[in-house]
Amino acid sequence: MKTKEKPWGGRFSEPTDRQVEAFTSSLHFDRRLFRYDIEGSVAHARMLGRQGIITKEEARAIVAGLRKVLVDIEAENFIFRPDDEDIHMAIEKALTDRIGDVGGKLHTGRSRNDQVALDIRLYLREEINRVLGLLAELKTGFLKLAKKECGVILPGYTHLQKAQPVLLSHYFLAFWEMLARDEARFRDCLKRVNVMPLGAAALAGTGLPIDRSYVARLLAFPAVTQNSLDAVSDRDFAAEFVFAASLTMMHMSRFCEDLILWSTDEFGYVEIADAFTTGSSIMPQKKNPDVAELIRGKTGRVYGHLVSLLTILKGLPMTYNRDLQEDKEPLFDTVDTLQASLGVLAAMIGRLTFHRKRMEKGAEGGFSTATDVAEYLVLKGVPFREAHGIVGKLVAFCLQSKKALTDLTLKEFRRFYPGFEKDLFACLTVRQSVNARKMIGGTAEEVVRKRITEIEAR
Ligand code: ARG
Repeated sequence: MKTKEKPWGGRFSEPTDRQVEAFTSSLHFDRRLFRYDIEGSVAHARMLGRQGIITKEEARAIVAGLRKVLVDIEAENFIFRPDDEDIHMAIEKALTDRIGDVGGKLHTGRSRNDQVALDIRLYLREEINRVLGLLAELKTGFLKLAKKECGVILPGYTHLQKAQPVLLSHYFLAFWEMLARDEARFRDCLKRVNVMPLGAAALAGTGLPIDRSYVARLLAFPAVTQNSLDAVSDRDFAAEFVFAASLTMMHMSRFCEDLILWSTDEFGYVEIADAFTTGSSIMPQKKNPDVAELIRGKTGRVYGHLVSLLTILKGLPMTYNRDLQEDKEPLFDTVDTLQASLGVLAAMIGRLTFHRKRMEKGAEGGFSTATDVAEYLVLKGVPFREAHGIVGKLVAFCLQSKKALTDLTLKEFRRFYPGFEKDLFACLTVRQSVNARKMIGGTAEEVVRKRITEIEAR
């Protein structure tokens, strides 16, 4: 390609090196922004015409031309030429091919620096709304499970050791809480995304009488950026989004980790439907939780994108630098990975079968009501530390004599503390233990049912 053919070729005396051309081009990934680029350009052209910076007829011709380009790209009648540097140039060139020299008026009072900032914001705004829809579905999925499994007892773990019995529903609602915070984070991030940067031009704005508020209105932005230098160099909103996505991935990954463990023969708490598992190419008996494992793996990939983005930003001298072109691949891949993971997990959790008996049996092991015995003593006036010691000795005795707490007689209990009474036996079973926990945020069935009702009333 001859230097003259580059839109910025005027001051150059030799063509761009081919390797440089390939190295600097972003078209293969930023073409995904074409819709937003055209939408932004249409608004910009209309504003230029309204302000008399170009004539009304010129504005109309540009808008009509842009719409044709849009139709062509959507119909896949559009050839992206690899020598176009980016999507902005490709569309501007296509416009001029279609409507002639007047196409050259579109870029008046604008730079690709503010143009790309606008495109990313338009893109991310739409994708965040899609993420919010997917999050809502996943939340509903956990809520449904909480309702369906209400009453089922699960061994609660700390350090992956059986700790105390809890309701399986309580466990599902824990994920509902995480996802509710995620939702709030994306909504908050959206406020910073939803600010209109066009008009900042390269960095200093323009001397032409543009109307930024009008462009914002056309594109449904509630606010415009207030500093042109910041407008072209700011990617905080993108980093925020990837951070919010990282947390959501982490929440999903944790659930997946439990699912992987719980579906082992060793745990045997849950079975994932065949449609959501895969087999082994050598071991005919295998049924593997690959979807859950991939969500866990992809979480690492999204964290990587967060580190990429933050690292790209940290050393940039003000204002725009080409480094910023590197924001897109991590951002796009985060959007794709997050949306795919949310979608498949929501579908998968609707296809789980819980082995309720086995869970409840599991909850009975590991002296999981030992704390309840200590709390029983506290209510009899024994200082907690002392109660802890007494029950510790009881547990040691049970281990030695291969008994559970529920196997002991009152006489045996009294060997460790004479003040034990018959009412002790009302706190030894896992169900009694669960239902005793009636504090706000507790796992008692009545509290969990109340929380479900509260959530449903929203
Ligand atoms: N493709 C660039 C990006 O993604 C936008 C163009 C700005 N280029 C420039 N040389 N000022 O950030």
